[in-house]
Amino acid sequence: MTSSFIVSGLGGRKLLSGTIRVNGSKNALAPALAAPFIFREPLSLAHTPLLEDLRRTEELFAALGVETTAQERTYTFTVPKIINPVLPEDIAKRMRASILFTGPILARFGSVSFPHPGGCVIGERPIDIFLDGYRAMGASVKVNKRHYYISAPKGGLRGAMIYFRVQSVTATETFALAALLARGTTILKNAAVEPEITALLRFLEASGARIEGIGTHTLVIRGGGLLACKAPRYEIMPDRIEAGCFLILAALAGRDVTIAGCEPSHLDSIIAFLSDAGVPLSIGKRNIVISAKKSRVPYRSVNIKTHEYPGFPTDLQAPAVVFLTQAAGDAAVFETIFEGRLNYVHELNRMGASIRMMDPHRVLVKGPTKLVGKTLESPDLRAGLAYIIAGIIANGRSVIHNAYHVDRGYEQVEERLRGIGANIVRMDDVGMAETR
Ligand code: EPZ
Repeated sequence: MTSSFIVSGLGGRKLLSGTIRVNGSKNALAPALAAPFIFREPLSLAHTPLLEDLRRTEELFAALGVETTAQERTYTFTVPKIINPVLPEDIAKRMRASILFTGPILARFGSVSFPHPGGCVIGERPIDIFLDGYRAMGASVKVNKRHYYISAPKGGLRGAMIYFRVQSVTATETFALAALLARGTTILKNAAVEPEITALLRFLEASGARIEGIGTHTLVIRGGGLLACKAPRYEIMPDRIEAGCFLILAALAGRDVTIAGCEPSHLDSIIAFLSDAGVPLSIGKRNIVISAKKSRVPYRSVNIKTHEYPGFPTDLQAPAVVFLTQAAGDAAVFETIFEGRLNYVHELNRMGASIRMMDPHRVLVKGPTKLVGKTLESPDLRAGLAYIIAGIIANGRSVIHNAYHVDRGYEQVEERLRGIGANIVRMDDVGMAETR
């Protein structure tokens, strides 16, 4: 059953107030779900966000023979001695992050087969870096109709020097995990340094892994066999993208809003962007407060160039563009990471925004513009959340279809938004036929 969000907009009034809590990070959970394959005993994850991608992973693990037990937000995964190393097509294609499982499974069980991973419509999402990396570690790669069959050499994967031609978050995570079970030392160059990577590597190190350069772009990883669970569980960090989305919403429609349970030290780029725009932020240890009564209206326009961490995150680009439709002036937005991640702007223009697409990587946003509620289709999880923000600040009613996309990255978001006064409900599409 598909569902949609129905939003009654505030028409530019700043009425949201109260506290909205940030959940565990989707993109910290993704690599953590690949970690159980390199541990000798069951691995537990705490503060787990209850997302659709977690449910898909449970289904995928069941097909592999990995057992999942859950106690509220603590999930424990037990990997058996033998598994069926075939990622089921129908699940893996719906979750790009399934690529993370291929490295640890190949390293531990000697072979893995999987479909070209699916995911969002934000770009072609190639996996050449993964295939080149497996070959560098001695594996053979066969491709047949976009299905991949990879087998490790006799004796298992060999340590290698791998230079990533682009900084890839999941490639860095996948090869860091695989390298721990390889023979010899692996050097990863031009590694990504997102906080979700650093936190995982520190946990692996605390579990006995020998990794040098954690937090830098060069990782030296010694193979050494399965790890022992020294710490009882791995705590999933707060979601910095969710926190950034809530900050943007609070800046646009908040009277007095607290974003609680976040990690401000991971939010430098969005804090700088909002401060430059004139948004008053008071930053605590684990929360940030925005009170609109002190904010200038309208905000100043600020240019954006997305960049690997610690630069401006591409995952916050769509919500930030909605913010810029309400700021005074022209803002240039340069999306440097994905070639398809600006297509959502056409729907914002239908709502009344004035955004000109200069090329697949650049738009020019003129503000401020009044937005009017429309019926929209979420193309991916981040643009879907951006449409919800646009619907909340617009005049009138919006219907945002494909709620599943949003549920992949934001747990029960409508309940938390209602908690600060937004008028948003979820509706099963069966009753929505007339609005399409
Ligand atoms: C991770 O995706 C995140 N997903 C993405 O979040 C995020 O947008 C992205 O990093 C960039 O920060 C998870 O962590 C689960 P990349 P990932 O490999 O690792 C190119 C969200 O909304 N590339 O860092 O798949 C790629 O096309 C999601 O939460 C190759 O060319 O992204 C892109 O241009 C969306 N070949 C660039 O690298 C490859 O083999 C960076 O992508 C792999 C990637």
